Amino acid sequence: MGSLTGKKGVILGVGNQRSIAWAVAEHFHEQGAELALTYLTDPKGRFEANVRKLGDKVNASLIQECDVSNDDSIQSLIGALNDHWGELDFLIHSLAFADQKDLQVDFSSTSRSGYSKAHEISAFSLLPLAEGVIPMMKKRGGGSILSMSFIGSMLAVPHYHVMGPAKASLEASSRYLAKEVGPDNIRVNVISPGAIRTLSSAGIKDFAELMRVAGEHSAMKRTATQSEVAQTAVFLASEASSGITGQVIYVDCGYSIMAN
Ligand SMILES: NC(=O)c1ccc[n+]([C@@H]2O[C@H](COP(=O)([O-])OP(=O)(O)OC[C@H]3O[C@@H](n4cnc5c(N)ncnc54)[C@H](O)[C@@H]3O)[C@@H](O)[C@H]2O)c1
Repeated sequence: MGSLTGKKGVILGVGNQRSIAWAVAEHFHEQGAELALTYLTDPKGRFEANVRKLGDKVNASLIQECDVSNDDSIQSLIGALNDHWGELDFLIHSLAFADQKDLQVDFSSTSRSGYSKAHEISAFSLLPLAEGVIPMMKKRGGGSILSMSFIGSMLAVPHYHVMGPAKASLEASSRYLAKEVGPDNIRVNVISPGAIRTLSSAGIKDFAELMRVAGEHSAMKRTATQSEVAQTAVFLASEASSGITGQVIYVDCGYSIMAN
């Protein structure tokens, strides 16, 4: 029996095999969870094709489009989850977005629309998703909501720019959600992975250098893997973490504790 046997939930943010969300899906499947996956529609349909192919490997019982910048799309997902299961144990929010041009300019030149969009997709989206799944989690007597942040929420990381305040907002939002739903035994936590090479991180200028420095300056002299992040997600979705909520847990090989 795995630590998630009998649990069912939805993972948002699988884009391809490198996605942190995909590692989470694989580990959750190994631990016995039943999964729903979502994909973002792109012009060439690549995400959908990837997610459908990957979904087969983890026996995903529901695969649904969800663009979190669109209220109707979020409501369609919630409707599909209600029709499919009617109850839910976990929601994994592993997605973020910033306009490329806002990552290339000085931080003070961030556009009004780019600032809003980064916050809307990367942070605000957790709220309507949580609102939608809370009734389904209450039916199970509790649940676990997880999202992914980055140390750029706390420190001024080179080239991370508008994503820094967006992640700070995500972390604060998680604490407020944790307070709201704590009495219902629903826990809300955030994992803060170190730098990992994925599609999203490739959009950050000089990311290879950021990774090199992160490895060199971490306590363990390396960066963490998708799999290590996923193992922490398993813990946070399982009963083993039943007393933990409102926390930001770093999975960064000790980069965040170092003074240099
Ligand atoms: N890779 C890293 O170094 C790193 C470090 C710390 C935190 N994170 C965080 O981990 C999470 C996952 O990122 P990743 O590195 O696995 O990259 P990824 O590109 O594999 O995943 C990002 C996902 O966000 C989805 N997405 C973007 N806009 C969306 C929208 N409007 N609606 C729905 N989905 C949308 C994309 O489809 C994609 O699947 C993000 O929150 C990211 O900020 C990544």
